[in-house]
Amino acid sequence: MQNNIFSGLFVGQNLLTLKEVDSTNNFLKNLLTNSKPLPEGTVIMAEHQYAGRGQQQNKWLSQPGKNLTFSVLLKPTFINAVNQFDLTRAISLGVYDTLRTLLDDGLKIKWPNDIYYKDRKLGGMLIENMVQGERINSSVVGIGLNINQDDFPDGVGNATSVKQILHKDYDLRLLLSEICSRIEGYYLHLKAGRIDFIRSSYLTRLYWLNQPRQFKADGEAFEGIIEGVADNGLLQIKRDGLTVTYNLKEIEFLNK
Ligand code: BTN
Repeated sequence: MQNNIFSGLFVGQNLLTLKEVDSTNNFLKNLLTNSKPLPEGTVIMAEHQYAGRGQQQNKWLSQPGKNLTFSVLLKPTFINAVNQFDLTRAISLGVYDTLRTLLDDGLKIKWPNDIYYKDRKLGGMLIENMVQGERINSSVVGIGLNINQDDFPDGVGNATSVKQILHKDYDLRLLLSEICSRIEGYYLHLKAGRIDFIRSSYLTRLYWLNQPRQFKADGEAFEGIIEGVADNGLLQIKRDGLTVTYNLKEIEFLNK
């Protein structure tokens, strides 16, 4: 009987589900260094991560069994290291488009790769690229999405979940299969050289694009307008008539 719900060519075809692990990114990176070559598209999914990692050394907390926490192995050797943000764009688009089948256009990609609904964070990514020379040898794409979690502990900040928005539970495996197939679609566009399509699609979904908003840089709050994202992934903000570029550590979005 055919019971493989993963309809793509390779992303998700080799799926390992773990009851508990420190971090699916750590697990996949260990597998890569310690075992025979793994097929591209291998996915490690965890029901419970007890030491999930987020961007900028943050922890990623997720209630066991309620959410999606998984990592995908890609081998984007066709991407030059200077263009690695194109991979971030492609992955963000795949995740975004899947959730957009459930949610209205309050859904946005917050630069660089957070998934937001209105002003709350639904999920994020930790993409760890192994660069060799000018090329990306392999990439461990870790994705955490809040799906069926009812509430978040105080202090977790501005997190939300699909359950909090739609008051329904969703089948995690089905969502995972959909995300895998959409990631694969965008990844193949990238591989085929459709960079402009990837970059413009990312921009149309960008949180706060072309809106006067408050930011903080160098300890100073200011009003600016996100104009775009540079090829190398830096955020471009118009500030006092000039376009200034920022990396993740340099800029903070100030929600009123
Ligand atoms: C962020 O927004 O800070 C990134 C969160 C990334 C979390 C995912 S969950 C699966 C994978 N394993 C990890 O340890 N982190 C990523």
